[in-house]
Amino acid sequence: MNEKKHWDRIAPSYNDEIFDVYASDKKKKLQRFIRKHGSKNKTAIDFGCGNGKSFPYLAPNFKHIVGLDISKGLLKQAKQRGYANVDLKQADLTKQNLALAPVDFAFCCNVIMFPELKKNYTMLANINKALHTGGTAIMVLPSLDSALFSSWRLIEMYRKEGVEVSEIPAHEFHYFKGNKRDLIQGIVHIEGVPTKHYSYSELQVICKEAGFKITAIEKLEYHWSTEFASVPEWLKEPYPWDWLVECVKD
Ligand SMILES: C[S@@+](CC[C@H](N)C(=O)[O-])C[C@H]1O[C@@H](n2cnc3c(N)ncnc32)[C@H](O)[C@@H]1O
Repeated sequence: MNEKKHWDRIAPSYNDEIFDVYASDKKKKLQRFIRKHGSKNKTAIDFGCGNGKSFPYLAPNFKHIVGLDISKGLLKQAKQRGYANVDLKQADLTKQNLALAPVDFAFCCNVIMFPELKKNYTMLANINKALHTGGTAIMVLPSLDSALFSSWRLIEMYRKEGVEVSEIPAHEFHYFKGNKRDLIQGIVHIEGVPTKHYSYSELQVICKEAGFKITAIEKLEYHWSTEFASVPEWLKEPYPWDWLVECVKD
């Protein structure tokens, strides 16, 4: 995929089209994790900052932040937020050997989800390289377990209405559009876009391989309305989730 073209096309309607983690985060956990690592002596990079949705949380908590993104359209919107301690730069974060001045804190929310799997590993390595030793990264990543669990819940919803699994319209499972190899590798289609999703154990492996020591992998839980247009009264916890990974550069 040509990410620059894709994201520049979405930029004008970004807020309507793209999932807002902060609005959906049931327990406001992401904000707490940012505050936990914040310090007026620390510098940070927001990898794939988009239109700067995280700046209201990052800017008051850090000395200086660099927002990096591939989309000029989104960077323009991010600039309009007007944070004095945020500098913005266009960069393709999937390119090897990015030259970035090292920082204390790396933040990356729903970016490392390329269907071309190598790009995810290169981006993880870039994040690791951009940190001082001992620096922390907070990353939000799509969960394969959550995608499978949501579909299982959908089957339950139909069953309670008297519809057997074999009778459920095929379009309800449009998420799992790829072949077996895609599915095994965590490629799930969101709004028609192939999107890499991760299992818990896979994260343990790939973060270690990128040079990180994991300090926490937690669920960032969302309301069921983020998955289904109509949510039955009985559908409660466990809720759908992204992974929140906290790790330290070893
Ligand atoms: C789902 S949005 C998330 C944006 C932001 N982190 C947020 O949570 O609102 C994905 C972002 O990644 C950026 N992106 C996609 N591919 C990229 C690449 N190769 N290099 C840098 N940024 C990229 C997009 O432009 C977009 O802003």
